[in-house]
Amino acid sequence: MGEIVRLQKYIAMSGAASRRAAEEMIKDGRVKINAETVREMGIKVEIGADKVYLDGKEIKPELKKYYIMLNKPAGFVTTVNDQFDRPTVMDLVEKEIKARVFPVGRLDYDTEGLLLLTNDGDFTYKVTHPKFHMNKTYIADIRGGITIKGLNALRRGVVIEDYKTSPAEVEMLSCEKGITTIKITIHEGKNRQVRKMFEAVGCKVSRLKRISIGNVELGNLPQGRWRYLTSHEINYLSK
Ligand code: URA
Repeated sequence: MGEIVRLQKYIAMSGAASRRAAEEMIKDGRVKINAETVREMGIKVEIGADKVYLDGKEIKPELKKYYIMLNKPAGFVTTVNDQFDRPTVMDLVEKEIKARVFPVGRLDYDTEGLLLLTNDGDFTYKVTHPKFHMNKTYIADIRGGITIKGLNALRRGVVIEDYKTSPAEVEMLSCEKGITTIKITIHEGKNRQVRKMFEAVGCKVSRLKRISIGNVELGNLPQGRWRYLTSHEINYLSK
């Protein structure tokens, strides 16, 4: 007999979603056990004996967990399949990682740097949910200069669309040949947040690179390459 687990755990084990997101999928009627759609919480399935389908496609729990860090180059989409057929981050890991891993959060097409991928939906939830306040640090190159007033506004929080950003840590690193380089740490993850924050103070980001998530650093991992997270990094990020 295989292990018996709750349906939402089974879905998270397949890497398709966090347990919480899986609950929504179940409520929305997207999940079938064998031939039957289930909408109730708490139903259990037996790994290896029951078949579970999400949106009509069978999903299987991956028992081995993968946690990897990629140094994403600009010009890759953070998605599994791109509707416009552009290169995706999966192209950079798929040859070597046979399990279905998924990006943890998102970096824009033009953004470079530290991107995590995993098949552990609960890990993704811990790293990306705003309530866990996970710091993310970026190096931003901006064309031209920035005023002290602009720096201080970023530090206090600026309004992007209808949202006031939380205070950010901001440090000016250099200013050379018309490019100002700034290190900025935020803990939220709004769409294109860093670019929009700079726009809000009148600056255009010409290059953006994420260098750390919490105290997990990209270090000198070459661009386009990936490595496994250490057990120390996995424990730290899932705590
Ligand atoms: N902020 C952005 O503007 N882009 C990213 O990719 C990440 C954070």
